[in-house]
Amino acid sequence: SVFVSGCLTFSCGQRVLDEDLDSAYRGILKIRTQLGNTTLAALAQFILPKISDPTQILEAVAISGTKDALATIKPSIEDEFKALLREYGVSYEVYTDDYREMIEKHLRENLRLVEDDKVGEFNFARYHPYDEILQYLKDTAEKYPNLATVVNVAHTFEGRRIVAMKIGVAKDTPKRAVWIDAGIHAREWIAPATTLYFIQQLVTRYGHDQTVTDLLEKLDWYILPVMNVDGYIYSWSHPARRLWRKSTAFYNSMCEDRNSDTTSSCTCTEDDLDRNCTCPDTTTVQNCTCLGVDLNRNWDAEWGGPGASPDPCSDIYHGRSPVSEPEVKGVSEFILQRRGAIQAYLSLHSYGQLWMYPYGYNATKTPTDIKEHVKLSEIATAAIRRVNGKQYRHGRATDVLFEAAGCSDDWAYDKAGIVHSYTIELRDTWEYGFLLPPDQILPTAQEVFPAFIQVRVQP
Ligand code: ARG
Ligand code: ZN
Repeated sequence: SVFVSGCLTFSCGQRVLDEDLDSAYRGILKIRTQLGNTTLAALAQFILPKISDPTQILEAVAISGTKDALATIKPSIEDEFKALLREYGVSYEVYTDDYREMIEKHLRENLRLVEDDKVGEFNFARYHPYDEILQYLKDTAEKYPNLATVVNVAHTFEGRRIVAMKIGVAKDTPKRAVWIDAGIHAREWIAPATTLYFIQQLVTRYGHDQTVTDLLEKLDWYILPVMNVDGYIYSWSHPARRLWRKSTAFYNSMCEDRNSDTTSSCTCTEDDLDRNCTCPDTTTVQNCTCLGVDLNRNWDAEWGGPGASPDPCSDIYHGRSPVSEPEVKGVSEFILQRRGAIQAYLSLHSYGQLWMYPYGYNATKTPTDIKEHVKLSEIATAAIRRVNGKQYRHGRATDVLFEAAGCSDDWAYDKAGIVHSYTIELRDTWEYGFLLPPDQILPTAQEVFPAFIQVRVQP
């Protein structure tokens, strides 16, 4: 889906303060526009700039595989937005005028499912809070000691452990490996859920299913279910935080000097953390409420380029410097330590049903291995389609999505020398988006399973 505008969360990358939890996301609308022959670019060029307060547009994205677009807006611009669409002859349909209710219902139901099966078998058909994910990994390692181990990869900004599961049969000779990560973005819950199913399939099919048995004999699989642990936990904490994308890193803001071009560091004390910085008199006071770095803009791959923001309040804030974030630093070092062994890199996101390869940071740059990428992407998306008939489009990230610099896929390709590097946007294409209902978890995981095991590295 081509993203043209907006901040994508109700809070637009700013921390939702406790006293604002209630008002933060009241009355949000989701509108599907039938662009027809008008392009999304036209919407971006002619309609969106006419909106009096652009910050009230939360998102405007193309719906993958259609000519339609989806706009999520705040109620204050409802009338002018609709009037503009009519003026330009764009028909539209209000999908919901109470997005807040959809989110609350979604979180409520998921929390109820957590309560309902506190005991018993691990249920792959629901979403899991982080402590349950960690427990599942530990239990799996205990149950399948010859196949699975929990490995420490990094620590988060808030000091939590980031772990991966290593799955494979130990050999005396060095093995090649495949890396899969998920949960770089907090709200994309289907991605971690998919990795858990993948782990379970690998360990339980070993010794029964020839393909999986071979896979674990020949390769090691590193599967990291949640990279952005802090953000993931934050997204479970309140419906107004359900659409959180970034990490929860907090850095003091800058004070901009009105008289010169200089900035000085601004001290946000715990007291005014939720308010303003304490800045010298001659400076513009900035608030201290912004939280989080987009962990998929912080990698050392054209860091700071297009599709990333220097503004800590942005949802696509790239951080202070390349690899400034402990999550990104830890994971990239871990991968580099296994350079040469790791021959495929998959990063799971949602939503959009896309299978993407480099480059994603520059629309004019084509990887030298594009033939390999196309070949594998065709095999993978065909394998997906055979399961439930779902179409996943494939292409360079800049062609099927948008330019974004500092992403992990380009880093893996350029800096870690991993030719087979893909970012996969799981279900769906627009309807539920990040709020994908639990009854779609298994179908999603099942349809991508055969594609993942195709990513076997050609010698
Ligand atoms: N949804 C992902 C993001 O916005 C897509 C990244 C695709 N890769 C790229 N290099 N543009 O982070
Ligand atoms: Zn994502």
